[in-house]
Amino acid sequence: MRTQVGIIGAGPSGLMLAQLLRQVGIESVIIEQRSRPYIENRIRAGVLEYEVAQLLRQSGVGARMDKIGLPHGGTSLLFGGEMHRIDFRDLTGKEVMVYSQHEVVRDLVAARVESGAPLLFECSDVAVEGFASGDAKIHFVHDGRAETLHCDFIAGCDGFHGVCRPSMPDGHLTFFDRVYPFSWLGILADAPPSAEELIYANHENGFALLSMRSPTVSRLYIQCDADEDLAEWPDHRIWEELDTRLQHPGFHLNTGKITQKGITPMRSFVTEPMQCGALFLVGDAAHIVPPTGAKGLNSAMADAVALSRALELHYAHKNHDGLENYSKHCLRRIWKVQRFSWWMTTMLHRSGEDGFSHRLQLAELDYVASSRTARKSLAENYVGLPL
Ligand code: FAD
Ligand code: PHB
Repeated sequence: MRTQVGIIGAGPSGLMLAQLLRQVGIESVIIEQRSRPYIENRIRAGVLEYEVAQLLRQSGVGARMDKIGLPHGGTSLLFGGEMHRIDFRDLTGKEVMVYSQHEVVRDLVAARVESGAPLLFECSDVAVEGFASGDAKIHFVHDGRAETLHCDFIAGCDGFHGVCRPSMPDGHLTFFDRVYPFSWLGILADAPPSAEELIYANHENGFALLSMRSPTVSRLYIQCDADEDLAEWPDHRIWEELDTRLQHPGFHLNTGKITQKGITPMRSFVTEPMQCGALFLVGDAAHIVPPTGAKGLNSAMADAVALSRALELHYAHKNHDGLENYSKHCLRRIWKVQRFSWWMTTMLHRSGEDGFSHRLQLAELDYVASSRTARKSLAENYVGLPL
């Protein structure tokens, strides 16, 4: 087997990269370890940046998003019992789109399947080789048969726990990371959202987030300990804690059947560089952010756009600058996204800080609430930096 670009992983980054390449006539094969139902039902992120929503439209997969997605023109910070709205439309002229990651995945998988281009599910024993010596190949087992895919380039879109990053030679990569001393306990519930827009709350019991997936499904999170045991959180305790942390005048928390419950650790991580020879890391394979800024999925899409542009330049114009600068280009954006995600996380969570740090946190919140310039900076980052 031979292709131009071998893509490992059918998450948002791998699927989007394949879609963008197909639009400019570049061939690819996607190799995914999980099944189609598994990736189409994996509950993860839910907020699309303005330009990422545009990207879905421009790449021909925005129709369902425009039908069932929820455009949000702002969000609110809740602290000291008071709500402070950040008006994205007024501050930036843009909005975000609330649309589930697994719906984005469904749309991209459907487009891929319809095109007839290869997308192989349930591949095992995936390994990469030869990428540093001009002979890039991907070995894998599919339908019980050992296969080798020869490629011009390999895109490692295989997430944080994938095989591509660890396959790079010792000493080639430097890792930068920060592990936070808390996690998020998240639920999905059959309950109409209790507010029209997202609410990010800093409460003395800890952070809480009210989000949603549709007019009948709520997505809610509470800060918990890093080593929290889910068994300690029966449904009624989760609802009580959400009610306490989100309470403000006129607020009523809608409850309902909890259909999914999980704990997400909070971590910032960056790999430098994001390339070794013909192997390029894309999305979570190269970097992860704490979810407070809603940036994980969006950053993965940004890398996919950068790599597709670089590959187009390479194939259509024999210009290798884009590929040579891929890492530098992506890292410049991701470090700004890391800064924003770290800032939102630090501003909104409680971690038993000393009195000085806690007062700084309150001052930060007060500054954002009282300064249009500070709100504008938050809004500009939240709706998304240019792709
Ligand atoms: P992934 O979506 O991880 O896709 C990688 C793909 O590669 C997967 O399909 C995987 O099965 C496949 N794969 C892995 N290893 C191999 C292999 N060896 N061979 C073949 N295929 C392989 N972000 C937010 O902004 N907000 C959120 O609320 C949020 N919640 C999250 C909750 C969880 C539990 C997790 C894990 C992440 C969450 N994120 C969130 C982050 C966001 O979902 C990711 O940033 C996004 O999925 C990154 O896309 P990706 O394509 O780079 O990687
Ligand atoms: C979500 O809806 O899952 C979500 C929204 C905003 C965030 C994180 C997660 O910052």
